This record gives sequence, structure tokens and C-alpha cells, in this order.
Amino acid sequence: MSKKILVTSALPYANGSIHLGHILEAVQTDIWVRFQKLKGNQCYFFCADDTHGTPIMIAAKKLSKSPEELIGEVQKEHYQDLTSFLVEYDNYYTTNSDENKFYSEQIYLRLKEKGHISSRNIEQSYCEHDKMFLPDRFIKGICPKCGAKDQYGDSCEVCGTSYSPKDLKDSYCSICGNTPVLKESKHLFFKLQDFESPLKEWLSTKDRLNEGAQKKLQEWFLSGLQEWDISRDGPYFGFAIPGEENKYFYVWLDAPIGYMASSKNFFKDEALFNEFWKDGKGEIVHFIGKDILYFHGLFWPAMLMGSDYQTPKQLNVHGFLTVNGEKMSKSRGTFINASTFVKYLDPEHFRFYMACRLGSGMEDVDISFEDFVSRVNSDLIGNLVNLVSRVSTSILDKLDRRLGPLSAEGKSLLQELLDKKTDIETAYEQRNYSKVMREITSLGDKVNKYVNDYAPWNLVKTDLEKAREVVTVSSNCAKVLFTYLAPVTPKISAEIQKLYQLKTLDFSNLESTLENITLAPYQMLTKRVEEKNIQVMIEETKDSFNQNKQTEAKVEVKEVTDTGYISIEDLSKVELRVGLIAEANHVEGADKLINVKVDLGEKGIKNVFAGIKAAYAPEDLLGKKVVVVANLKPRQMKFGLSEAMLLASGKDSTLSLFVPDRSANPGDLLK
Ligand code: 2FM
Ligand code: ZN
Repeated sequence: MSKKILVTSALPYANGSIHLGHILEAVQTDIWVRFQKLKGNQCYFFCADDTHGTPIMIAAKKLSKSPEELIGEVQKEHYQDLTSFLVEYDNYYTTNSDENKFYSEQIYLRLKEKGHISSRNIEQSYCEHDKMFLPDRFIKGICPKCGAKDQYGDSCEVCGTSYSPKDLKDSYCSICGNTPVLKESKHLFFKLQDFESPLKEWLSTKDRLNEGAQKKLQEWFLSGLQEWDISRDGPYFGFAIPGEENKYFYVWLDAPIGYMASSKNFFKDEALFNEFWKDGKGEIVHFIGKDILYFHGLFWPAMLMGSDYQTPKQLNVHGFLTVNGEKMSKSRGTFINASTFVKYLDPEHFRFYMACRLGSGMEDVDISFEDFVSRVNSDLIGNLVNLVSRVSTSILDKLDRRLGPLSAEGKSLLQELLDKKTDIETAYEQRNYSKVMREITSLGDKVNKYVNDYAPWNLVKTDLEKAREVVTVSSNCAKVLFTYLAPVTPKISAEIQKLYQLKTLDFSNLESTLENITLAPYQMLTKRVEEKNIQVMIEETKDSFNQNKQTEAKVEVKEVTDTGYISIEDLSKVELRVGLIAEANHVEGADKLINVKVDLGEKGIKNVFAGIKAAYAPEDLLGKKVVVVANLKPRQMKFGLSEAMLLASGKDSTLSLFVPDRSANPGDLLK
């Protein structure tokens, strides 16, 4: 009997582009969904953009757009990128929808009614200038552990320590540069600990999770479940919490509810929706990365339990994508966007390669470009595609494109392929795609050996009917292999379907044979990977990273001009030091300038042309301590090189040099 399955992959955040890491997950899910559909199951694939939260609100503001406008544009781009990798959704929606608002409010109110929501005041960093509470990522400062500057409020990128933003030294708001203050406000909490025992039971159910994920969740139980802060104060781009003033659901509360909303938007019909989310007639299966296991393995099922909805049947957790054995890196050009990849390489090749690399566990998945080229060019093209291409043009033309009956030898070879059906189906079901690919390529090797042994390219010159026999066998074998491969390479498989004039290429159709029929004209199935395209793609990724860095720098400068602010980072670039005027002289031919030599202690003596003559005579200046901008880029003036600047206020005769209060030593840094 066919199963009803509702499948999701994690909702991409609307604050960034789709990169190969997202594609790994989308492809892993899509292969599974296509397999289920080809098996005849009633399977749906839902996704959406995850649109709420502070970063999106700030990004929209910077672009002078409304958040709605920005997320609308991003959703289109995301959908385009994901589907260019042949990922086929039944619905790709948004979390900023009426349906999502409805279910978020409903679930929250049900949890509240049952006593699973608490509230208390908490103290958080607040920017008085921007009039908002700052998420950890919007606070920067000096790492309390290693002293690295400009680190985020949650962890240090230099030494890797995690901390609370309160521990940062000299913290500042990354939006405006001001120092945040601590401010209290009421927050709402979901009492996760109320669900400890049903969650434990849920998690221990067989096949719910892979082993690694189960272990990780057990560790969290051991360290004790904590209540979860689900509210954020306005301004915040999200759904207002019913019954509260200026409070919004934290983005992670409504994000998974977005799975329900996307399905409701597709089904429309309440009864169909309920089959999955209420009645348990259908199964819910999520695909996620290991970084969001906590949300999907604890909060999400607990929220569903507490609001009388069905919990997911399966959580399929994958590892991260690494490139050439390393974390994806923007500066090395390996943080590759989906849209850049498709410019230079074939997305179907990425699907094929990912399938070769993906197992059912949580291990990281590596794309090594050398291996990518060799797998695609030899296993996909040299082995499998070649099986079709080398007999489907001139050889078949000489045979009037007609197949004959299957020989006894052919039938037995074909049977060997069909005998692997159960193994291949089980491996697909368990997401052990690398096993599927090993099986298929080894079957491909066998068929290639058969074809090579008979060499139909020679037979066609001497024995047309024997050539027809060989081509008939190899075409039947190719049909089986490309049916097996259809979840992974849907475009190539669709071309094969056309070539063999078949209505479908699904698993129920595996046993039907191609005999005494005429084949359609052959269309090129796919091209070999050109190694040079990989290099170009990496270079383009590096360039766009460097360009973005430059644009960000320009935006910062523009923000200074627009707002009148400089960030604390900018200020820290200015080196103000105490200087002792060691020499002061008139400058011949200049009525406003005095040439001074300022002693900056260990920093040496700097030559300065200062426009202070209306207020000071050289002899007044000797021995005076002044404040100097010590790291000003030296400027070549008409009278010589000026290497620093003296700070002063006023002008002409009222001009007054800044002098350090009390005793200060030449070279001392002003803070
Ligand atoms: O980690 C992320 O990118 C999140 N946007 C995933 C959300 S998945 C689900 F909960 F919506
Ligand atoms: Zn601020």
C-alpha cells in the first residue's frame, strides 16, 4: 500500500544567498522525495524562506526597503537557485504568511493555556541610540579571554571561546558604535522541561534519528533541559505575541511552524492537512543539518506535543559540506554560491557527486574537486552515459533504430540488474545514497564489459542482427540503470525515457522490456566536466568576496557621512599621543605656518608644519606638551614633509593648542 509522506528541508534564512551547503541538503531531500514518488508513494516536499528576525530588519533598513519587499526579492532568488539544481518542491513558501501567523498564535495560546509558558524579567544589552535590544551578534567588543578586538557578543572567532555579551570588554553596538546599556524587560519562556519524559520516549523510538544525532540529544538531557526564551521586544520583524504589548515571537518559534504553514498553503483543505499534522495517517519527515538539531530534536517536537499536533516520524540529520577537506572559506573561494556554480558547472553533476558521497549518518560531506571531476567523467559519463551514447547514434542508425528481441544471455544479464532492486531501494530508503551509487556503477561495469566483449561497432559492419542483439541488451540494461538513477539524475533519466519512448521511468516499470521497438533520435545527455571551469568558478567566488569587502568598506564610509557617526572601530584607528615640542621655527615664505619637531618618545621625532602662527610664536612653543595625531599619513607640502598633526581648537588669534592635563610623558597614548 502506498504511504503518505510529508517531507521538508530546513528553511533557508532570508538574510543570505543559497550556497552549496544549502544545496547539499536540498539535493539530499529531493533525491529521497523523488525516490518515494517513483516508488508510488504519496509524497510531498515542502519548504519556505525563513524570513523573520533582527538581521533581516536591519538589512532592509540599510537598503532603504521594507522587510516585506526584501524578503519577497530574496524568496524569488532562493527559489530560482534551489530549483536550478533540479530540486522539485510541491510548495516553496514564506514564514511571513497568514497561515504561519495563524498556527504560531494557535500553538502559543494552546501551550499557554496548558501552563507551559512562563514569564520573568531579564536584563539584556540595549542600544539607547537605536532604541532596541541587541541580539548577541549585534554587539561587538574585546574578547574577555584572548583580548582580540571586534569580536561578536556570543563567541570569539580568534580563540573560539563562547561567552555572554556582558563579558565582552569595551562592548559597542555594531549598528551605531555606541556603548550598549543593560536594560530589563519581561520575556516569555516555553517550559521545555515539562516535556522531558515524552521527549525521551519520542527520541528513543527506532529509526527516528540516526545514531550520532541520538547520542547528541542524550547529552543534552544529561545537562538538563532549560526553558526557552520565545519572545523578543519590538522593534522586531516577526509576529506580535497575542495579549502582549510590543512583544514578538522569536524567529525560531515560528520557523518550524513554517513547515505546517507551507503545507496548509498547498493543501488548502483542512482534512488533507490533518492527515499529516493531526490524525497520524501520514508521516512527517524532516531533513536538517546537525547545527539545528537542538531546535528540531527538542523544542519542535515538544511544541507539537503541547499543542496536540503530530510529531515528526523521522529527523534525518546530515553533516556539513566541506570543500577539498576544509570548511568552506570565502577568502579561499570555496564558499560557493549556487548561482555561481550553475554558471560554470552542471547542477546534475553536483547531484551525482553528492549522491556518491552521502551516507545516512551525520558525518561531514566533502566535495573534493579533483574527485568530482573524476567521478563525473568516469563513473557517470564514461561508464553509465556512455552505455547509451555509444550505441544510440551511428550504430542504431545503421539498424534503422530498431531493437530486436532479448537474447537468453541478455535476459540473464538484465536479471542480474533487476536482482539488485531490493538492495537499491533499501539503500535509498535509508538515505545511504553512496551505496546506491556503488551498486549502480558496478552494474554499469558489468554491462560495459558485455558490450565491449561483443564490440557492436565492429559487428555492425559484419553482422547486423548480432549487432542489434547487443544493442537491444545494452538498451534494456541502460533503462534499468537509469531508472535506478532517476532520483539522482532526473534530467538525464528523462532524456532516456524519451529515447526509449516510455511513458514513465519509475520503479514499478522496471521489469517491462524494450523489444522490437523503434527508438527516438538520440539527444546529448550530458557533457564532460571541464576542469578549467572549476578554477574560473573559484576565482569568481574569491573576487566577489573581495569586492563585497570593498563595498562594505564604502558603505561604512557612506554611513559616517550620512549619519555623522564614526564607529568605535574607526576611532580606534586614530593614534593620539602626547608630544613634546623639541624645536619650533618660522617657515620662510609662509605667514601661517610654524615648523615644529615633536618628540613622541619611543615613536621618535616627527616633523610637523602647523598652521598656528596667528596664535603662537615659535619661542612660546618650545618645551610645550601637545596632543598629536601620530599616525597621520605624511603629506608632502610646499615647504617639506609634514608627518603628524597637532590638535587645537578655535582659529586665528583665538587658536588654542590641546595640552594634556597633569604630567604626561612624550609618546603616551591617549585613550
Ligand atoms: O538555520 C537556518 O538557516 C534556519 N533558517 C533553519 C530553519 S529550519 C525550520 F525550523 F524552519
Ligand atoms: Zn546602536
